[in-house]
Amino acid sequence: MANSNIGMVGLAVMGSNLARNMASHGFKVSCWNYTPDLTDKFFNGAAKGNDNLVPFYDLKEFVDSLEKPRRIFMLIMAGSPVDSMIEQLLPLLDEGDIIVDGGNSHYPDTIRRYEYCKEHGINFVGCGVSGGEEGALHGPSLMPGGSKKAWEALKPILQTICAHTDNGEPCCDYVGDSGAGHFVKMVHNGIEYGDMELICETYNLLKNGLGLSNDEMRDIFKEWNEGELNSFLIEITSNILGYKDENGEYVVDTILDKAGQKGTGKWTGIEALDEGVPLTLIVDAVFGRCLSSMKDERVKAAKEYNKKVVKYEGDKAELIENIRRALYVSKIISYAQGYQLFHKATETFGWELNNGGIALMWRGGCIIRSKFLGKIKEAFDKNPNLENLLLDDYFKNIMIEYVPALREVVKAAVDTGIAASSFFSALSYFDGFTSEKLPANMIQAQRDYFGAHTYEVIGKEGHFHTNWTGEGGDISSTAYNR
Ligand code: 6PG
Repeated sequence: MANSNIGMVGLAVMGSNLARNMASHGFKVSCWNYTPDLTDKFFNGAAKGNDNLVPFYDLKEFVDSLEKPRRIFMLIMAGSPVDSMIEQLLPLLDEGDIIVDGGNSHYPDTIRRYEYCKEHGINFVGCGVSGGEEGALHGPSLMPGGSKKAWEALKPILQTICAHTDNGEPCCDYVGDSGAGHFVKMVHNGIEYGDMELICETYNLLKNGLGLSNDEMRDIFKEWNEGELNSFLIEITSNILGYKDENGEYVVDTILDKAGQKGTGKWTGIEALDEGVPLTLIVDAVFGRCLSSMKDERVKAAKEYNKKVVKYEGDKAELIENIRRALYVSKIISYAQGYQLFHKATETFGWELNNGGIALMWRGGCIIRSKFLGKIKEAFDKNPNLENLLLDDYFKNIMIEYVPALREVVKAAVDTGIAASSFFSALSYFDGFTSEKLPANMIQAQRDYFGAHTYEVIGKEGHFHTNWTGEGGDISSTAYNR
């Protein structure tokens, strides 16, 4: 009998937890996995005795068990498994049915799949899911993109099972058409990389520049979590710093300093380069992970250069407060850059991305959830067409007050010899963004000198070329055809 409200494809940890979440809210969920062993494991374990969770071993029976329009949520590995699953589902579905891909798929793939499914009369939804396994079980942040019609059918379920803010607002809303959901999730992950790198550089300055113990740092992060920096990542950093194993050893001190990555931060960086948006902090954070992974070379270079960090000589308490402020403004700069990428995507893809709504979606449930996202929401509520977050009054006042602290932190990193490229990057962006004049006139002159690429002139229309050497002729490269 077709009476399940939704189907879950993929019963690994994320899929099974999301299915349990749906069931706990009274939705009846049909469950299917490519290999039956995971279905068995789930129904002999966490799903045992739960009447709202129904196991299926046959894909057709699974599809037939769903009320129409059918809603199928896939939480499977990104890449070719998604295409293969679509191929298996399409012949079993009817016009108007909905397939949701909740994995970390790259948004160009989602655009392609959206068009392909549309040709078959099926609504394909790319939905960013953030919050890890705990989030999936108790309320993730959900970023669905696709047709409005599909959203209307999914809304009652997704806005029930997602995280909610303290005011009860759902951390899930319609993001935009086609691949918009996965685009927003990709940028979320890029921002996640930036936040994590800034925290790591902070940890390095506190530990090696100031010589603080793990317990001292744990307390500092705990205190910071009570204020402006309140966020999931600051909270878990404090917990990590205080965590000891059964031998009384701090686990964080035993972990090899090589960061992994699955590619979503890199995608964000590539997108920024393609779109010409200076996403400097996120790109720096990706490269920070790359540099960390060159462990053998670093060990060798440290020996060759006899690298030593110099202890900070100034006032400790003052530097700690400066670091807190630097972390906050650098974070603001990183989010301002991320939102610039949204701005560009709106032009490129014609998506009407809801900037304030996105901040609200990230306010709870996801990895970058923080108090500060409420301020971003307020900024876009005040001015939905805000060009750059740094031009909002709240953020402007913070920048004016806190950027001097960022300068002090950058100086301290220089003096102690601690790598802090994300802090450097934030400050350089700020200094560049707030400069009426940049030295790009020299780049234009050089380009014209060696390649006749022409330049624009202050107060004049058109493009001009100078015969700098008296030998190059008067023809510019745009007109020059060999
Ligand atoms: C989330 C996370 C998640 C991501 C991991 C690991 O929002 O829940 O972004 O989707 O996969 O954080 O990412 P990396 O392996 O690239 O660090």
